Parts: sequence; structure tokens; C-alpha cells
Amino acid sequence: MKFFSPLRYPGGKLKVSQYIKLLIDTNNLNDGHYVEPYAGGASVALDLLINEYVSNIHINDIDLAIYSFWHSTLYDTENFCKLINDTVVSVEEWKKQKFIIKNKDQFSALEIGFSTFFLNRTNRSGILNAGMIGGNEQTGNWKIDARYNKTDLIKRIELINRFEDRISLNNMDAVEYVQMIDNTLPNNTLIYLDPPYYKKGKELYINYYNHEDHKEIADVVKKLTNRYWLVSYDNETAIKELYSGFRQKIYSLNYSVGKASKGSEVIIYNDKLFVPEIENPTDKKEISNFIKSEIYL
Ligand SMILES: C[S@@+](CC[C@H](N)C(=O)[O-])C[C@H]1O[C@@H](n2cnc3c(N)ncnc32)[C@H](O)[C@@H]1O
Repeated sequence: MKFFSPLRYPGGKLKVSQYIKLLIDTNNLNDGHYVEPYAGGASVALDLLINEYVSNIHINDIDLAIYSFWHSTLYDTENFCKLINDTVVSVEEWKKQKFIIKNKDQFSALEIGFSTFFLNRTNRSGILNAGMIGGNEQTGNWKIDARYNKTDLIKRIELINRFEDRISLNNMDAVEYVQMIDNTLPNNTLIYLDPPYYKKGKELYINYYNHEDHKEIADVVKKLTNRYWLVSYDNETAIKELYSGFRQKIYSLNYSVGKASKGSEVIIYNDKLFVPEIENPTDKKEISNFIKSEIYL
């Protein structure tokens, strides 16, 4: 699987990309529009666009840091790539970038976008408020630049920029954004909502949700009866109750031998969406067997 997103994202959803492609195929949504109101690293959206499953993607994130990163990638590409190329990756630079992200109001979109990118690629697990890879003294096995391959990352940004006229970008609250796109986008649109986790959101994201926020978006989404949508979450009772009455699939996250299971997630579907019978949406083998047996033969 090729990574198109330049951002490392905690809880990134690339693992369900094959499954989303299957949903697009089986619901005749090819060449349609695809929306992520909580885009983060937008890894699925980019995979769908660059591999020509959809004609347009619409990405939105309330986080100004994330938005500025996408803004710089799409609209200030040359300067952004030059910054990546010319900036030495060091502990001193990390401190400078940390200052920028903490004092956004004093800096330009390009500076904030670059700072987001720099910290995302040099922090542990890509978490914006975590420490740097290797620690302040750089005594760890991995050093600060372990995830910072300039040539590859610049190539990713240049590739995304080539699709600029097919990508729309917003910096809105998801509740308002969803209502806006409901009034503007064509019928062959798939909306995939991946809100901050119910339980762990606070640790992972700068913008997290409390129960009322989860309820508010659920109330808006449940009204989109004429749309194709799905929502994914950590497998929590409170979430399943918020979406009771809708089809729900619970699946376990990739279990790797020798490691404890990483828990389970739930996907909720609206009534309009045809849902193929797949046990585990992250299981690429199961999906490829399904395609061979059910659809194309
Ligand atoms: C679970 S992450 C999405 C990860 C993404 N699906 C990926 O694969 O990279 C949730 C994202 O929602 C954003 N977010 C949080 N609250 C939001 C809100 N009220 N409106 C829009 N985006 C929000 C966060 O900034 C974060 O980037």
C-alpha cells in the first residue's frame, strides 16, 4: 500500500481504504465525490483520489495547524517544499517549530503549516503535543530525523498538488460543515466521518470531543437520510447507543502475533448504503476474495 499523505496520523484510517473502495464500487459511487469532515491526515481521501476511485475529495478539519498544513501543500507548494528542503532537522529547529505552533497568531499560514509538518514528522507517533523522537538528548535508538525523508515527502506534496483543482479544503466545525455539504454536493457523494475517539481522543488530538459533542454530530448525521454515509469509532457502548437503529459492524483491529490485541472499532452505516458482507473491514485478503467471488465473476 502506498502512503500518499505526508502526515503521520494517530488512528489513521488507511487500513480501511480497501473497504471504502469496495463500498464505492458496490454503491455505484465511482467518479463521485468523497467527503471527510474530520480529515486529519486524509490518507483514505488521497488514496481514493489519486487512484481515481472518485473525481473530487472534500477535506475539512477544525484544527488550524492541520488546515494550515493542507493549505500550504495545496496553495503554496513551491515555498513549502523549499522550506522542507532547506530546513535542517535538529533539536534546535524542533524548539523553534514548537514555539510557532504554540504562538500561531504571530505566524503566517505557511509557517504554521510547516511547523505542523515538522513536528508531525519528528514527534513520537506523530502526536503534536508529544516529545521528539530520540528525546531531548537524542540518546534513543531512533533519532529526530528517523521519519523525515525529505525527498520522499516532497514528492508526496508535489503529487497532491497536481490534484489541487479536485480537492476542496475547509477549516470548519464538522457540524456546520456537514450541513453545508449536504446543501451543495451531488447525489453520488460518500461521506466518511471519523471523529475523535470516544475514549482516547483527549490523549491523541488537540481538538477532542466530550459526550455532548458526539451527540451533536450524531443528531446531524442521522438526519442525512438521502446521503451515503458511514461513521467509525472506538467500540464504546455510548457510541453504539447514540446510533442505535442503524446498522453497526464491530471488528477487531489488526492483531499481530506476540502483541496484545489493539482493541476493537465500530462502523455505523446509514440505511441508503449497500453494505457487502465482510467480517473485518481491515482484512485486505477477505476483501480481495470477496471481490473475486461475488462481484466480478
Ligand atoms: C480521528 S482523527 C481523523 C483521522 C483521519 N481519519 C486519518 O485517517 O488521518 C479526528 C480529526 O478530527 C479533527 N476534529 C476534532 N474536532 C473537530 C470538529 N469539531 N470539527 C472538525 N474536525 C474536528 C481533529 O483535529 C482530528 O484531526
